[in-house]
Amino acid sequence: MGKYSEVIAREMGWSDDQVEGITIAGYLHDIGKLIVDLSVINSPERFSAKDSKEMSRHPSAGYEILARINHPYAEIPLMARYHHERIDGKGYPDGLKGDQIPPGAKIVTLADSFDAMTTDRPYRKKLALADVFEDFRINTGTQFDPAVVCAFCRAFLKEVEGKKERRLLNLLNRNYDNLEAVTPLLNQLLADFDGGTMAASANN
Ligand SMILES: [Fe+2]
Repeated sequence: MGKYSEVIAREMGWSDDQVEGITIAGYLHDIGKLIVDLSVINSPERFSAKDSKEMSRHPSAGYEILARINHPYAEIPLMARYHHERIDGKGYPDGLKGDQIPPGAKIVTLADSFDAMTTDRPYRKKLALADVFEDFRINTGTQFDPAVVCAFCRAFLKEVEGKKERRLLNLLNRNYDNLEAVTPLLNQLLADFDGGTMAASANN
C-alpha cells in the first residue's frame, strides 16, 4: 500500500523527497495497531462497537510512536494520525474537514482503502474491481478527496494506455484479470469529479 501512495503522490506532482516520505508513511501508517488488543486485530468477524473503539485508538497511537523518531519527513506522524479522517469531518480521531487534513494523509486514506478492498480479509473476500471503483464514486467528496481520486484514476489510465510504467497494474495483476475492463469507469469518475475541482467546495 506504500506503493499505491507513491503512485498517487507522483501523479499529483510531488517532488522525489516528498514521494519518498509518503511511501514510508504508507508502510508505517498503521504502526499504532501495535497497542491494539491482538484479539481485535485478528478478529475473523467485522468489529463490534467495543472492538471499533479499541481499533480507533491506532491512528493517535501511531502518531505518538512516529513523532518520537527523528526522520527527515516531518509529515509522516501526521499522515499516520489522520489516515482515518474523512473530508466531510466524520472521520477520526479529530474529525478534521477538507483542507484541515494534511494532503499526504488524504493520499494514504485512499491508498489504504483501495488496498483493503482489493485484498482478501478475514471477514470478506476481495471486491470485484468494478465494485471498488463504484465505492470510490459513492464516497468521493465525503470520505475521499476528489483530487486524490482523480490522480489515482489518471495514473491507472496512463498505465493501461502504455504511457507510464506499470506499477498499479503489476500490483493488481496478482489478484485480477482484464484490468483494461475498468477504463470506462475510471473515465466516468474523472468526468464526474472534473479533475478534483470539487475539493474546493467540499472544504467550505
Ligand atoms: Fe488504519
